[in-house]
Amino acid sequence: MKYFPISSDLFARNRNKVLRQLPHDSIAVIHSNDLIPRNGDLFFKFRQHSDLFYLTGIEQEKTILVLIPGASDNKEKAVLFILEPKPEIEIWEGKKLTITQAQQISGISHIEYEHTFHIFFAKLLQHYNCIYLNKNENPRLHTFVKSRDDRFKRIIRKRFPEKQIERLAPIITECRLRKEPEEIALIEQACNITTNAFKQTVPYIKPGIYEYEIEALLTKEFIAHGASGHAFEPIIASGANSCFLHYVSNNTVLQPNTIVLMDFGAEYANYASDATRVIPVSGKFTQRQKQVYEAVLRVLKQTTKLIITGTTILEYQEQTKLYIQEELLHLGLIKQHDITKQTKDKPAYFTYFMHGVSHFIGLDTHDVGNKDTVLEPGMVVSCEPGIYIANEGIGIRLENDILITETGNKNLLEQMPIEIEEIEDLMNSYWHNKKIN
Ligand code: GLY
Ligand code: MN
Repeated sequence: MKYFPISSDLFARNRNKVLRQLPHDSIAVIHSNDLIPRNGDLFFKFRQHSDLFYLTGIEQEKTILVLIPGASDNKEKAVLFILEPKPEIEIWEGKKLTITQAQQISGISHIEYEHTFHIFFAKLLQHYNCIYLNKNENPRLHTFVKSRDDRFKRIIRKRFPEKQIERLAPIITECRLRKEPEEIALIEQACNITTNAFKQTVPYIKPGIYEYEIEALLTKEFIAHGASGHAFEPIIASGANSCFLHYVSNNTVLQPNTIVLMDFGAEYANYASDATRVIPVSGKFTQRQKQVYEAVLRVLKQTTKLIITGTTILEYQEQTKLYIQEELLHLGLIKQHDITKQTKDKPAYFTYFMHGVSHFIGLDTHDVGNKDTVLEPGMVVSCEPGIYIANEGIGIRLENDILITETGNKNLLEQMPIEIEEIEDLMNSYWHNKKIN
């Protein structure tokens, strides 16, 4: 790991939140992610399961957490199983966690090696009838790939058909939505790394470079400042590519007088940031680009004001659509009669704005939480309106990360330039002139 150690208090507090919601006569089991083979004996980069990290801070494969709310000894309410360090594995992969190290990270006293889990679990089931099992319940997840949690559930169903199985996901989701102060600090750190990377990178943008050169500069800044890398595949989309919402090829040469849309974010200590900015490749926006940019910036500012305690994404997104509709009228992209004859399935704005305006942010870039979740202090959401004019090759999306607080909201990316003059100044800053002269 590349980040400073996180206090185990955070993970203990997170576990207690879940433990408090579990019935006393039940247990819960949470598995780590798999180490996924890439080919032969090499693996894809390991990323811990967000729920397991949230509850333990452990970043190692083959980790299992058992929660036992009914245990009489507080120290037995959480039992952790970790991989046994073996010299033949360590010679390739480096040191694995010892039990003492895992205790320090997680704050869990009772830790055993993973190969003893099945005996422990079978004994535990003699006393418990109800098992809470974890599952990725993101409604947009469509996959044939079974996680360790999925496979475990199948085994339990087969081996212990008499046991009652319950869903753990709604409980963990509720807990993860409201961030603890330490989590907010980690998201802020991810945002600060992202802001710095942007400021360092933009002065190097000019016609003739490839989109991937921008990606490379961002990556360098991320890693050099303690991020594990990108929280998601960065979108560096110049010219007409800016109208493809999740364009990640990043292999086009930047053309003079076009724009480049950068949707990117560092991941720090497994916490995400998510920013979008749009840059004029030649250092100055054209009149038309400026018009569209200012329209989107106005909508961003208007929508940000609506992100307060008590509202839902669904609620303020409806208002954002009206703001966008108004801007599209001014830009001459739609006419009043397009609005009059629009249907619910085919609103007039949809050709130019076809995605949601917000998602939750946390351990995942698109974090747990639904569009009808009522916002509360401690929650973090993106705010990302856009206007995409495919036939003009102009796609503008502007995105900030907004923390809800007791006293309003806070933009965690407020130090990242966004006003037209700020962006143009940054483009034309000393370093840029020095480089191109
Ligand atoms: N940053 C990519 C997205 O929010 O979809
Ligand atoms: Mn986003």
